[in-house]
Amino acid sequence: MTAGGANGSGGKILEVEDLAIGYGGEPLMEHLNFTVSKGEIFTILGPSGCGKTTLLRTLIGLLPPLAGKIRIAGEEFGPEMEREALDRLHRSFGVVFQEGALVSGLDLKANVALPLEEFTSLPRQIIDEIVRLKLDMVRLSEAIYQAPSDLSGGQLKRAGLARAIANDPLILFCDEPTSGLDPATATEIDRLLLVLRKLMGITIVSISHELASIENYADQCIMLDRHAGIIARGTLAELKQADDDRVQSFFRRHIDRRQEGLA
Ligand SMILES: Nc1ncnc2c1ncn2[C@@H]1O[C@H](COP(=O)(O)OP(=O)(O)OP(=O)(O)O)[C@@H](O)[C@H]1O
Ligand SMILES: [Mg+2]
Repeated sequence: MTAGGANGSGGKILEVEDLAIGYGGEPLMEHLNFTVSKGEIFTILGPSGCGKTTLLRTLIGLLPPLAGKIRIAGEEFGPEMEREALDRLHRSFGVVFQEGALVSGLDLKANVALPLEEFTSLPRQIIDEIVRLKLDMVRLSEAIYQAPSDLSGGQLKRAGLARAIANDPLILFCDEPTSGLDPATATEIDRLLLVLRKLMGITIVSISHELASIENYADQCIMLDRHAGIIARGTLAELKQADDDRVQSFFRRHIDRRQEGLA
């Protein structure tokens, strides 16, 4: 690949340095520092509205950073990048958006083919084969000719995953991959992420505020706070031990919700 190689520096595939994020020049959070290792499932936690999706949009280049650096696989990602380098970076990750974002007028086959058509010059027959393989990986082969509107919530999430991994990305970004799903379907998606990591060696950066999912798959986590940025980091067990009222109140709220049968 590029300077630093596919593994990035020292096995770090994503490096975030002193990053400031926000809209219209107004920072939502500043001085964010974290790294993600190759093959890790890294989870970004935090209460609703704290800025998780904003961080993800910045990491994938949809929003310009207000300050700081983002390096993917050792290559710095910024507005001054040359077109070719930017394309290479875009090819190196897949994204499952919070709102799904499948194209409603296209069946699943055409939706999953989109990144392959955009970023490769593979012949149609090979694209078709890859699409079938990816739909099979998320167990949606039978729905290949269905439109997004014909799918259940769980099927839509799986279809979004198939599209995100179509290109064999180095990093899979997922924004709330289980939100809005019943607990059994959510657990199925969690298991699928673990299977994809095992089959593809993919690194996963997942946003969630669902404790059950984080328990199922997270290796490393950071917890965000709207005002203070990263307020805790480590394994989920380490976060639960954190001596910080905001972290403790996040876990208390989730335990309360579980007891009420809401999560
Ligand atoms: N396009 C935008 N322009 C200005 N402000 C925005 C925009 N999108 C989001 N915001 C604001 O930024 C803040 C963080 O929003 P964000 O969507 O990143 O939160 P989140 O942590 O992903 O929340 P949730 O868990 O509900 O998905 C919110 O106050 C939101 O209103
Ligand atoms: Mg969000």
